[in-house]
Amino acid sequence: MNSLLDVAHLKEDFPIFSKVMRGDNRLIYLDSGATSQKPLSVLNAERDFYTQHNSAVHRGSHLLAEEASEAFEGAREKVAAFIGAEVDEVVFTKGATESLNLIAYSIGNSAPSSRLAIKPGDRIVVSEMEHHANLIPWQQLAQRTGAEIAWFPVTPDGRLDLTELDSIINERTKIVAITHQSNVLGTINPLEQLISRTHEVGALFVLDACQSVPHFAVDVKELQIDFLAFSGHKAVGPTGVGIFWGRAALLAEMEPFLTGGSMIESVTMADATWAPAPRKFEAGVPNMAQAVGLGAALDYLSAIGMDAIESHESAISDYLIPQLLALPGLTLIGPASSESRGAVFSFAVDGIHPHDLGQVLDQSGIAVRTGHHCAWPLMRKLGVVGTTRASFYLYNDLADADALIEGIVSAQKYFKVL
Ligand code: ALA
Repeated sequence: MNSLLDVAHLKEDFPIFSKVMRGDNRLIYLDSGATSQKPLSVLNAERDFYTQHNSAVHRGSHLLAEEASEAFEGAREKVAAFIGAEVDEVVFTKGATESLNLIAYSIGNSAPSSRLAIKPGDRIVVSEMEHHANLIPWQQLAQRTGAEIAWFPVTPDGRLDLTELDSIINERTKIVAITHQSNVLGTINPLEQLISRTHEVGALFVLDACQSVPHFAVDVKELQIDFLAFSGHKAVGPTGVGIFWGRAALLAEMEPFLTGGSMIESVTMADATWAPAPRKFEAGVPNMAQAVGLGAALDYLSAIGMDAIESHESAISDYLIPQLLALPGLTLIGPASSESRGAVFSFAVDGIHPHDLGQVLDQSGIAVRTGHHCAWPLMRKLGVVGTTRASFYLYNDLADADALIEGIVSAQKYFKVL
């Protein structure tokens, strides 16, 4: 049985919800798929880092350097615990996009003799519902190496079509890179089948967890994946910090992506050798305050409980989906049941362009995302120019769902399309 969180109480942790929006409306923030709002504890953690401990980590021999290093490494431990990883398997990046590029470039930098090397004729498998960040790096890698891209199609109801699973992930496949939850459709993908087939052919599985890690419990060891990426800013954390996780044995074999300070073991005028992971992948002075902020964000989510957050979002889906389906002129784009889907709702309204609908909703304080959602191939497949997307999180409640429905009906009246 799904149950709701005490949203009124929880919202007090998020300063932005006291903002008065256009027309003296309260903020109804339905754009957490793009970025989440931040609780005060995260803002304070960053501020505390700058006001009390600011110093370059892993370098100085003074008190501040020691404290900053402890805070930074403490954040790494929190991330590791949050996703069931070993501490040295967690790499801080500037965001999930960088994490995914890191994997693709690092693999592309492999020596021809490495088992990670991609060769002409090898296959990289993605899906039609990938965000550009989990598509273009693989396209580019394929173009640089002579590999081919293959993909799982999406069914009309927004699920992955796995009927050709065994021929799409074939013996030539080296990498399978799939999103855990679609940022457009809300679909949660059936990872077990995909991962099991990936390993059967000896390929590596990359999970884009941007829309899953913030919303429900994800354990990298239980899933038996090889690589994972997520961003801090969608998980009530700061912008400018993301996570790349990889299995220790793979990290040890991988080439660096960015080179420079901090990531070396030894350097001569002609050559260099690399520090062990995670430092091999963290060139330069890292995003320390943001990493510390992410640690505070994961503390915040853990204190509420990821299962409680998942249950809350499922309760919202159970409440909202039948209402969206019942609205005349509205087409829900994505699964029409709350089974294996998150609280992300894309839809088209007859006679109203998504951008126009977004602007009308904004007049009532409702923030939604409109457009192609960085998933252009999916838009083409679905035959739409774009959608309006409402994405819910732990600070949304049923009143926000009601406001969305009322806002859509008002827009239909305004544009005289009812
Ligand atoms: N990837 C983010 C979204 O889906 C920006 O909106």
